[in-house]
Amino acid sequence: GSLLSDKEPNNRLIVVSNRVPSPKGAGGNQGGLAVGVMNALQKADGLWLGWNGEIDGDNNAQLSHYDFDGVRFATFPITEHDHKTYYTGFSNEILWPLFHYRPDKVEYSRESLDGYLRVNQRFARHIKPLVEPDTRVWVHDYHLIPLGYYLRQTSVDAPLGYFLHIPFPPWDVVRILPEYEDLLRYLTSYDLIGLQTEIDLKNLRDCMVMALDARDLGDNVLEVEGRRFKIAAYPISIDVNDAQDLAKKGEQSATGQRLKRSIGDRPLVIGVDRLDYSKGVYKRFQAFERLLENAEHQRGNVVFIQISPPSRTDVHEYAQLRSTLERVAGHVNGRFADYDWTPLRYLNRGYGREAVFGFLRQSRVALLTPLRDGMNLVAKEYVAAQDPEDPGVLIISHLAGASWELKDGALVCNPYDIDGVSDMLEQALAMPLEERKLRWRRMMDVLETNDIHNWSQNFLAELMEMKLANSASQ
Ligand code: G6P
Repeated sequence: GSLLSDKEPNNRLIVVSNRVPSPKGAGGNQGGLAVGVMNALQKADGLWLGWNGEIDGDNNAQLSHYDFDGVRFATFPITEHDHKTYYTGFSNEILWPLFHYRPDKVEYSRESLDGYLRVNQRFARHIKPLVEPDTRVWVHDYHLIPLGYYLRQTSVDAPLGYFLHIPFPPWDVVRILPEYEDLLRYLTSYDLIGLQTEIDLKNLRDCMVMALDARDLGDNVLEVEGRRFKIAAYPISIDVNDAQDLAKKGEQSATGQRLKRSIGDRPLVIGVDRLDYSKGVYKRFQAFERLLENAEHQRGNVVFIQISPPSRTDVHEYAQLRSTLERVAGHVNGRFADYDWTPLRYLNRGYGREAVFGFLRQSRVALLTPLRDGMNLVAKEYVAAQDPEDPGVLIISHLAGASWELKDGALVCNPYDIDGVSDMLEQALAMPLEERKLRWRRMMDVLETNDIHNWSQNFLAELMEMKLANSASQ
């Protein structure tokens, strides 16, 4: 370990999340959390605890410990019933759609809630024996909101931090959830709560005030029922150097060269997203179709490659989206393809990180149009993957967290405006080299000043500060 452990040699760190990166190489459908936290942890001297991705009937299965890619892991399986209620049910049929402003997709049930609380208690039981007084515990994402509360109940007095990787919606959306007050109260057990953007921060603050009568003590510190905690925005980022290396290697690799040969001189547009309705791929396909309708010179020319590895296949909405996208992709190709040209390459599978970075580097445009996204790390990865002498153009939805930091260099679109996205795609494909370089440099400056290492360092430093202040005031 370096960075963090050099500074705080005796200060242990336990990171907790539902999903941990798979040593079996899940082929790139793991989402931003696994990528961001992995990069942060490789430089710290920490332990990462979470679900091992497997189902096992034994409710008392112990932790398995192993090292992978420079990080220590402790993982455990969950039962089929827990998977159905905690993971598929409460996390992904209730919290995920609600937090992405889609109450129409919420499938609420009390059984799911019970599973959610039960598995959070199980996480607490696994963590408790690992915590020493100086151990910092950093909990990640919506699966584990009550964990801090259960840890405090078992008299864990360590610094507890929480980071939400997805959006936090406005109060009037949050209160659709029957237990919204409990959920907010669980959050008050943490010393520091991190969010992706200022909007998410504002929404959480409103909720704390409206639902729990929180007192604002200034400097982002709130007080609820005698407990003080801080809430702040820490936009997650990437390891820029790592991304650049991967992209160069990926372009040179056999996979990268095969892509190049198959495209020739044609301009390539790329999208990379888990197959999820929040990513806006349906409307994205429609915008691409509109481009082919309007810009005749792009027929036989532009190629759009959309990489969408399946995700959360047990959730009904995801299965439905999958067949919708298959239909639309088939429709676009059926309508416009020619004997020597397929406009839309829709790939329902994941690729290794090196291959994906190589694809990103070869793409003239990245078209990332989520209807709502906590951050969207692919946008940042695309920027870092570019060749500085011939960089591509990023089109990013204004409803993705990443648009706030990248707006001075990216083309920022409204993903609901299909004509608008189609026009922007035309603009991107026609953009002169000088303008591309200028825009790319602006985005790179942002990434270079706030990379993944600043992100974790800032969060952990403020966590310690807040914990010290809390201990002093007791
Ligand atoms: C998003 C979430 C993560 C999650 C990832 C993949 O990035 O914020 O918590 O791990 O999606 O989803 P999955 O359900 O496969 O873990």
